[in-house]
Amino acid sequence: IYIGSFAHCISLNELEVCERGAIGVDEEGVIRFVERNVSNEEDIKLNFGEEWKDAKVVRLEGKGFFFPGFIDTHTHAPQHPNSGLFGKTTLLDWLTTYTFPLEASLSSLPKAHRIYTNFVSRTLSHGTTTCAYYATRHVPATNLLSSICLARGQRALVGRVCMDSLSPPYYRDASTASAVADSRACIEHTRRIDPSGTIVRPIVTPRFAPSCTAPCLAALGALAHETSSFIQTHISENHNEIALVKSLFPHSKSYTDVYDTANLLTPQTILAHAIHLSQDERDTIRARGAKISHCPASNTALTSGCCRVREYLDQGLTVGLGTDVSGGCSPSILEQVRQAIWTSRFVAMGGPGADQPDEKAKLSTCEALYLATRGGAEVVGLADKVGVFEVGREFDAQMVRLGVEVPEVEGESVQDSPVSLFSFESREEMVEKWVYSGDDRNCAVVWVRGRVVHKRKGVVV
Ligand code: GUN
Ligand code: FE
Repeated sequence: IYIGSFAHCISLNELEVCERGAIGVDEEGVIRFVERNVSNEEDIKLNFGEEWKDAKVVRLEGKGFFFPGFIDTHTHAPQHPNSGLFGKTTLLDWLTTYTFPLEASLSSLPKAHRIYTNFVSRTLSHGTTTCAYYATRHVPATNLLSSICLARGQRALVGRVCMDSLSPPYYRDASTASAVADSRACIEHTRRIDPSGTIVRPIVTPRFAPSCTAPCLAALGALAHETSSFIQTHISENHNEIALVKSLFPHSKSYTDVYDTANLLTPQTILAHAIHLSQDERDTIRARGAKISHCPASNTALTSGCCRVREYLDQGLTVGLGTDVSGGCSPSILEQVRQAIWTSRFVAMGGPGADQPDEKAKLSTCEALYLATRGGAEVVGLADKVGVFEVGREFDAQMVRLGVEVPEVEGESVQDSPVSLFSFESREEMVEKWVYSGDDRNCAVVWVRGRVVHKRKGVVV
């Protein structure tokens, strides 16, 4: 029984902040009750009968609240060591300068082990309970990432990257057949280590259209259908990339059409970036039920563009947030919440993609938090399982603590983040202070299905 304040998004526009809550979670990690006006814990135990009599109580002391775990709908685990390195590059020269050489080096399994254990720890420490990962094209390293996620208890979609075209000789698939066979091997590994797919699931991963031949795209579409797998790829991130796709696939109507022709657009498809989509492309994506991963920090760092998320939401597209490390330099979804809001404000101020100021383009704090939790849950196929504290859903959550003193400077005790230095008046403002000035120091404990998967040093639960 988790006792204390909790907050979550009831809908895109409705943030509930409950001050005196109690959430009862059973052995399977399923939420069995959500109480909103608790005066003392003995009453709860009595109200809910014998089976709760000896339940363990996790009490949130002091300022803070329980919040649903974050969902990162797009990131690249092998690229973590490159975070912060992009210089003045944009997508295509960034890939050849920074990304391909680093990814190629994960042919070393010890190196992959170091990078992946560290990155999974980092995403968990930022409250990410579910993550859609790109790995590399190496089968052993990709399988290792699946195994690490399973061992750490982080829900994950793990994809072996396919690239049989236009890639450097030192980092490419030898043939379409080997790309498909290697992908199949990774799907089989993931299904073997977690047959139920509760924690790790495979995801078919054509890197992006320029990296794949048309036969490869089609074969991966067929593989995903045959194995009922999720699919992830990049789409319409940058103007040069779009022009490249046009030249490589001259008979396709659009970038979206390239994927549609290969049967890669399904309700289980995650399309990263999706910045410069025509109305026709948006209509196709919606009709196929494919989902969008908005990666605002990456889109700014690589000057890819400002995604018009407000329009997408108004048009009924499903959107979640992605860190896109290392296009994006932070593994934090809380950071993406802020960045999504900033991007929407640049659009509102008449920035790129807007002819004139448009107040309606602004995303609210609640809307961005919705994308980080429930929107993300829809993107990764967990809409009925996580993202909100409701009876029947699973308890994937983070304990957000505000104003705790930690000895961070020698000889001095400083408060754990700027959050605690501000006063706040309402419960909603407490959440806003966290969103705009909080960080991983505020993320004290993280649970997946009621199991502790991360705990900050010194925290006792
Ligand atoms: N397009 C193809 N590969 C990548 C990648 O690794 N990162 C990003 N942001 N876009 C891509
Ligand atoms: Fe990416």
